[in-house]
Amino acid sequence: MQLSLGLLVASLVTSIGAQSTFSPARPPAIPLAVRSPYLSTWLDAGSDGGNGGYLAGQWPVFWQNQVTGWAGMIRVDGNVYTWMGLPDTKTVNQVAYEYTSTKSIFTMHVDNKLEMNITFLSPITPEDFKRQSLVFSYLNVEVSSLDGQDHDVQVYADISAEWVSGDRNAVAEWDYGTTDGVAYHKVYRQTQLAFSEKNEQGEWGYWYWATDASSGMTHQSGSAGDVRSEFSNNGKLANQGDTNFRAIQNDWPVFGFSSDLGSVGSSPASTLFSLGLTQDQAAQYEGAQSYGPVPSLWKSYFDTELAALAFFHHDYSESTIFATEFDEKVARDSIATAGQDYLTITSLSARQAFGATQLCGTQEKTYLFLKEISSDGNMNTVDVVFPAYPIFLYSNPALLRLVLDPLFENQEAGKYPNDYSMHDMGSSYPNATGHSDGSDEKMPLEECGDMLIMTLAYSQKSGDTDYLKLHYNLLKKWTSYLVADSLYPANQISTDDFAGSLANQTNLALKGMIGIQAMAVIANKTGHRDDAANFTSIAHDYITQWQELAIAKDASPPHTTLSYGDTNSHGLLYNLFADAQLGLGLVPQSVYQMQSNFYPTVANKYGVPLDTRHAYTKSDWECFAAAIASVDTRNMFLKDLATWINETPTNRPLTDLYDTESGNYPQNTFVARPVMGGSFAPLLVRS
Ligand SMILES: *[C@@H]1O[C@H](CO)[C@@H](O)[C@H](O)[C@H]1NC(C)=O
Ligand SMILES: *[C@@H]1O[C@H](CO)[C@@H](O)[C@H](O)[C@H]1NC(C)=O
Ligand SMILES: *[C@@H]1O[C@H](CO)[C@@H](O)[C@H](O)[C@H]1NC(C)=O
Ligand SMILES: *[C@@H]1O[C@H](CO)[C@@H](O)[C@H](O)[C@H]1NC(C)=O
Ligand SMILES: *[C@@H]1O[C@H](CO)[C@@H](O)[C@H](O)[C@H]1NC(C)=O
Repeated sequence: MQLSLGLLVASLVTSIGAQSTFSPARPPAIPLAVRSPYLSTWLDAGSDGGNGGYLAGQWPVFWQNQVTGWAGMIRVDGNVYTWMGLPDTKTVNQVAYEYTSTKSIFTMHVDNKLEMNITFLSPITPEDFKRQSLVFSYLNVEVSSLDGQDHDVQVYADISAEWVSGDRNAVAEWDYGTTDGVAYHKVYRQTQLAFSEKNEQGEWGYWYWATDASSGMTHQSGSAGDVRSEFSNNGKLANQGDTNFRAIQNDWPVFGFSSDLGSVGSSPASTLFSLGLTQDQAAQYEGAQSYGPVPSLWKSYFDTELAALAFFHHDYSESTIFATEFDEKVARDSIATAGQDYLTITSLSARQAFGATQLCGTQEKTYLFLKEISSDGNMNTVDVVFPAYPIFLYSNPALLRLVLDPLFENQEAGKYPNDYSMHDMGSSYPNATGHSDGSDEKMPLEECGDMLIMTLAYSQKSGDTDYLKLHYNLLKKWTSYLVADSLYPANQISTDDFAGSLANQTNLALKGMIGIQAMAVIANKTGHRDDAANFTSIAHDYITQWQELAIAKDASPPHTTLSYGDTNSHGLLYNLFADAQLGLGLVPQSVYQMQSNFYPTVANKYGVPLDTRHAYTKSDWECFAAAIASVDTRNMFLKDLATWINETPTNRPLTDLYDTESGNYPQNTFVARPVMGGSFAPLLVRS
């Protein structure tokens, strides 16, 4: 029963202290440092397993759920409190939590003496690749007096070696230094395992944990107990390094900084920390050339990792301005499109979507590599890029090109044998091996349609027609596949592979037909008039037949079916979004209107089920369906989803697959997936 769960949380929280507000929602997990597949640390905020969203009192975790030790303490007039993680002291009182697209901001009270604003900023700069290429995140702690008195304040924070490997028996090594006014702990796996993962964490590269090398700063590495008690007892650290390099879990080495802010009154004093990962080479790639390593993109902007670190750390004010601009753009556009419920969804999705990607290559030849986080770790999966494409198209269409480029390059070099589109660039991120044996997961109709739609979407938004010319032959080959298979799709899986395979899938057929019409437009734009005429005539013929095959006309209200002829079935017709987004006008308005009228009749508490086979839904596809619905139906989708965010018992990074009645996971636990970039779909088809 809902009530008892709520009461349990309330009493738990009251025993800790006053309750925090959560604005605009209490998400299932709070993004702390979320910038790439390997810099992805969150705070479980669910009521079931997490502590309900309090920064102090539980450890931050990697998206896969193992602890990435990150602790914060503050000393006020000699009394010590914890503000992050689980050191053994009293905790501060969290009074508020707020998120924007790039920031998580906690407001804490320390015994009604001091206020703390703790800001986790994971920048998103879609058009500024120099900044976007840095796999770094900020933590800023700002304090001021609450009671009008001056207080003696020291701020402490550390990370553990858990950040450097998913194997707690791996031996860590570390070093301390300063560069350009920045003090840093450098921590890394002693035995580097290039391009390898353990428990989804990256096993190579160097982690930097840094702060200002100011006069009040002290530092120390050593066992968690030693370093933290040094601070608790003395309000400063010993400026010493532990040189007994050892396993991560062997007496847990931590890397601490303390900052003496001195006497703090009503004007705020602050301490800034930066945390990030440098990997000279970030991926391996089978493109037109033979398989080989690809550098991280930041390498083409900075000569050394210390230069990159120093730039990032000193860039906080500037970076905050850019981040706030991005936050405000998303807020303005989301509110104008569909109001606050909608912004609750988009602003929570932004870091998650970008956090599954990394810019790689050089300034001359850049790639955006994307990890299919949590479902299988595939790289640049076509039908995972597709649900995410709205956020790329919205924020900078060039990003969509950079994520598609590897797929084109590999297949145009003749490295994929099938006559349909490849499913992904490689089974295990960060190895973009391609699939020269053609035995990738077979989703032929889905992927051909996706590639055609996304290629045209990029070209329309950017004005880049050459891209269509460059890839014309391959696009045309995929269209032939669609012509052969999309009127009566063979028994196959769609992107929703967990739901099983089926013949004659209505929504999949529609994607194919939209793909063919997209090709007609591509042909027209590139001077291939005969192809344009041929494909548009086929697409229109198919869509006329599709309306006979796929609509339960006599149902009340009428609706499309899950598969042809199964008049008792239904499903989210999310592929219709592409017809509107690309402005194709292929599908009659009556179909849009019919679906809009139908969805509210089958909505559950937290949304409309994906289809009649199960009670679960996909949040990305709900946003696609919402984007093209009537105002009322759209608002229903978005309100249900925002309510779910607030109430779900899940407590891991935003899932895109949940039960529409319980709000919980169904059989699959999808978390932190980039597909939530699909929440930006309604921004692309404003009516
Ligand atoms: C915290 O942020 C709020 C809102 O921006 C501001 O009014 C307050 O002064 C800040 N407090 C501190 C300690 O910086
Ligand atoms: C990537 O390939 C390398 C060999 O080049 C291998 O050591 C590594 O384990 C692979 N990574 C993953 C995630 O499978
Ligand atoms: C139209 O396209 C289909 C599929 O590629 C092809 O089989 C057919 O020959 C084309 N027709 C014309 C007139 O070009
Ligand atoms: C697909 O639908 C058509 C038309 O209803 C039907 O003739 C055909 O048998 C169906 N295919 C499969 C594999 O069920
Ligand atoms: C192709 O372009 C012509 C001229 O702009 C236009 O009349 C026609 O409708 C276009 N066809 C398609 C399929 O876009």
